[in-house]
Amino acid sequence: MPLPRQTDVLIIGAGAAGLMCAAVAGRRGRQVVVVDHANKVGKKILMSGGGRCNFTNLHTLPDNFLSDNPHFCKSALSRFTQWDFLALVQKHQIPYHEKKLGQLFCDNKAQDILNMLLAECADAKAAIYTHCQIEKITALSTTDLPLRYRVHTSLGNISCESLVVATGGLSIPTMGATGLGYEVATQFNLPLKPRSAGLVPFTLTPAQLAVFSSCVGNAIEVCVSCNDDKGNEKSFVENLLFTHRGLSGPAILQISSYWKPGQSIQVNLLPHVNLIEHLRMQQQQRPKVLLSTVMGELLTKNIAQVFCDLWDAQWKGNRPLNQYGIKDIQTIATQFQSWQLLPAGTEGYRTAEVTLGGVDTSCLSSKTLEANHQPGLYFIGEVVDVTGHLGGFNFQWAWASGNAAGTFC
Ligand code: FDA
Repeated sequence: MPLPRQTDVLIIGAGAAGLMCAAVAGRRGRQVVVVDHANKVGKKILMSGGGRCNFTNLHTLPDNFLSDNPHFCKSALSRFTQWDFLALVQKHQIPYHEKKLGQLFCDNKAQDILNMLLAECADAKAAIYTHCQIEKITALSTTDLPLRYRVHTSLGNISCESLVVATGGLSIPTMGATGLGYEVATQFNLPLKPRSAGLVPFTLTPAQLAVFSSCVGNAIEVCVSCNDDKGNEKSFVENLLFTHRGLSGPAILQISSYWKPGQSIQVNLLPHVNLIEHLRMQQQQRPKVLLSTVMGELLTKNIAQVFCDLWDAQWKGNRPLNQYGIKDIQTIATQFQSWQLLPAGTEGYRTAEVTLGGVDTSCLSSKTLEANHQPGLYFIGEVVDVTGHLGGFNFQWAWASGNAAGTFC
């Protein structure tokens, strides 16, 4: 099917936000064309949530999002909530379950969510074109109104009244991520917030990796914290996983979105234990038992041994509990419960789930996602400076911002 020469709405990017926007705009009777350079649509939906797509979170609140303007996301999120998306999932009879912490996943496959979006687009008569490279975008003159933009593509040129940029972020370039959305923003003089990899594992130095080599593959529940760029402490209680490259697991991915290079993170390896009290009690009940044995019962044997060896010098060796004074016990508790760690870096966009930063929200309408001084140009989804926590929040932003633009474009 050849690309039409003109349309009401042209959406660049057939991912989560673009497909949602297409369905909503199409249902309003707008003629919608979606173009994507990839060979398949919705690739990130398909790979998300380990193939089961964590499509929303029951507890979605504006607090679950990072942005230079934390209020910006509120309008769109309140007009298309997690319950609205869930109603769509139920309408399509997609089986799902809550895994933990309000995170909703498909029982079967992420393909169910993509099929649902494609069915909604087909119903709304939105046309989707893959293998479509964007070559150039030009703003038309007022004499061409209502047409405002012409997009030159590998499949031909197409003019539109509304141009919606839904090209996502920079993470996982092998899945088709590009910086096109940022280039379009720059072309129209819209400011960008600095971008970096978010929800991403930390790397460690070779010396640190050697210390933790015997822990690789082990996961423990921790509380990890660091300060955000406004100096507020952020913390997450979830699993930390030791890997061949460093640290991963949900706690690490969450904190990585707040971390800045050169900053230490603080890890409480026993977030649910009063360690001073526990060690004092054990001293009385089992005075001859070794510190590493007691810690091994709380952590795993492996992990306890590694940390006991690491901090051995400060406690003057791994001794029976009755040989430690109260000062030693306090030092031990501080080490295990506020471990200060300086990550070497992150794994970057290669494995990051999201891109932090992006199109500055100060130049967009929070109601419509249209650029304030560039009529007919919209930005939705991850390309905007709104990034969710881990747990289905990024898709909820894609649905909500797609719905907001789709309602007005
Ligand atoms: P998205 O990336 O979905 O779509 C962008 C589209 O634009 C793509 O189809 C791309 O091909 C196209 N495009 C890019 N450049 C283009 C160009 N130059 N020309 C034409 N087309 C172009 N979130 C969540 O809430 N729950 C989860 O379970 C997960 N899991 C997850 C796993 C992994 C491995 C990753 C990498 C990410 C997640 N996420 C997630 C994050 C989530 O996938 C992401 O935030 C949304 O897909 C963003 O939706 P968008 O529509 O903005 O971009």
